[in-house]
Amino acid sequence: MSGQTANDHGGDWILGKNHACQLDKIINSTSLQFKIVEKARLSDTVVRMVIRAPLVAINAKPGQFLLIRPHSHAERIPLTISHTDRSLGEVTIIFQEVGATTRQLGALEQGQEVKDLVGPLGTPSEIENVGTVACIGGGVGIAVMLPVTRALKAAGNHVIGIIGARTKELLILENEMRTASDELLIMTDDGSYGEKGLVTDALTKAAGDHRIDLAYAIGPMPMMFAVCNTTRDLQIKTIVSLDPVMVDGTGMCGGCRVNIGGKAKFTCVDGPEFDGHQVDWDTLRARKMIYKPEEQEAISRSESPNA
Ligand code: FES
Repeated sequence: MSGQTANDHGGDWILGKNHACQLDKIINSTSLQFKIVEKARLSDTVVRMVIRAPLVAINAKPGQFLLIRPHSHAERIPLTISHTDRSLGEVTIIFQEVGATTRQLGALEQGQEVKDLVGPLGTPSEIENVGTVACIGGGVGIAVMLPVTRALKAAGNHVIGIIGARTKELLILENEMRTASDELLIMTDDGSYGEKGLVTDALTKAAGDHRIDLAYAIGPMPMMFAVCNTTRDLQIKTIVSLDPVMVDGTGMCGGCRVNIGGKAKFTCVDGPEFDGHQVDWDTLRARKMIYKPEEQEAISRSESPNA
């Protein structure tokens, strides 16, 4: 590094006036202030947040995620990018307030800032024209499924969207998934909307009506596990998006290690998407349980009036 500036070389040999102006714009747009420009509740516990993060918005692709820290004393949590607006330099995340940190994030309001945000991280989804694809989203996983569904449709696939939730109130992004899909099947556990039953019921029905070339399943681990059992029998290749505990998000800590086809993989760099039929679900389940007591303690602490 020479430490030289443009003036060391007698003026603007690197930057003409227009370029300097462009650079100002870039520097301003890369300010590390991640302002919440929009916040909405999609259900009692699911929050949609639009955050200004120009460099992330420019570079993000479907399937990638952010590490986000709501304030300086909080943990960093991984959240998949649900939408980007490159022209406005904004990214959208949709998350469920299930743990201490997601609750802290959900407590922030429009106009406030998150402390830090890193991304885009992870390997983007492999988007190809394979024929007919079933895009299955469960609960808040529908928000993660949406950009992948849009990309698969844009690539020319016939897309069968299947979305499910426990009740009608918990079902999110129906209109967006309907627009992104060629057909949409809706399932609720209690039958309060769509068909009563599980997404696997809808998948089995769809597989009876169509030749399905690929399935994507994103949602709670039991749902993805059940989809993989169904598609294994139907011999449909299935991609899932895993969300183990993450710490650094760069492949250094090993916290997000998963076993795929007998090999150790790091979800943050090798994933988060993997072949669901190769996932060692028992080990993943056990590793996720390790930190349950600490998570419960963190929730209790954050709910304490003295917190
Ligand atoms: Fe540390 Fe993936 S989060 S290795």
